Amino acid sequence: RADSAIRPKRLSDYIGQRQVRDQLDIFITAARQRGDALDHTLVFGPPGLGKTTLANIIATEMGSELTATSGPVLEKAGDLAALLTSLSEGDVLFIDEIHRMSANIEEILYPAMEDFQLDIMIGEGPAARSIKIDLPRFTLVGATTRAGLLTSPLRDRFGIVQRLEFYQIDELSQIVTRSARLLGLESEPEGALEIARRSRGTPRIANRLLRRVRDVAEVKGDGRLTAEIADIALNMLHVDRHGLDHMDRRLLLAMIDKFDGGPVGVESLAAAISEERDTIEDVLEPYLIQQGFMLRTARGRMVTRLAYTHFELPPPSRMAGEA
Ligand code: ADE
Repeated sequence: RADSAIRPKRLSDYIGQRQVRDQLDIFITAARQRGDALDHTLVFGPPGLGKTTLANIIATEMGSELTATSGPVLEKAGDLAALLTSLSEGDVLFIDEIHRMSANIEEILYPAMEDFQLDIMIGEGPAARSIKIDLPRFTLVGATTRAGLLTSPLRDRFGIVQRLEFYQIDELSQIVTRSARLLGLESEPEGALEIARRSRGTPRIANRLLRRVRDVAEVKGDGRLTAEIADIALNMLHVDRHGLDHMDRRLLLAMIDKFDGGPVGVESLAAAISEERDTIEDVLEPYLIQQGFMLRTARGRMVTRLAYTHFELPPPSRMAGEA
């Protein structure tokens, strides 16, 4: 992917997530000083915040190799066994969407993580037997959207657990400025800021929008990233002033128009907008909740007054849940 040119490769290039960076810096330095592998690390948070990037940075900082796979790709015990047995001492095995591993794969992972032992059954019926193979000391880096999706035995086997948060606007602005420089695009601070404000707190979105703004700058502007060009491009892409996109608006407007603002169950909402429940829970609602457009309550999802004002709609005189 063309992304690789702008992805930070060292912890010192990584912008934002201050706590995560400071903690990992200490844990990595300590592991290196002891000549040991880094403890198994779980990284969780909404998509696009840099989980894969962090896994790569961990490998680079540890001076080791990274092998990447994902939960849904690991179907048979042999798939995981093949990966584990090709690792070298101190290597990183990165499993994205680790919550989507099947139970039989997960059981192979337990002794591998805990005792660096591969424990597998070979053969079938009366001839079946189990064999144990010693594995090198490796680091499992697991990524997931929500820590609660993992079974507790799996979660308990990670010595390091880090949660990624949505980025602040000034951090995204720095990321956009850095990416623009690496893409050879001249940028004004106000131009980077405009993209940062409208990127849903998410570097992946900021970098994607930056590429589209660059296209507009080259065709309609003077080739520089300015606030005016960013605004034209983002309006054209239907990214609104708050950074809400088409899907965000569809979700909020469905709650308002079809469910009187809620509360509404996530399944009904998913059906109403023809989306997967997982997409609502993992991709759409975390940012809308963080920004105060909607709430998750025991009785379901509800929009807030802010959602009505955002769409210039009159809020009901008394909102559900208000005294
Ligand atoms: N590109 C994407 N995420 C980044 C981050 N956190 N820091 C620097 N560049 C990035």
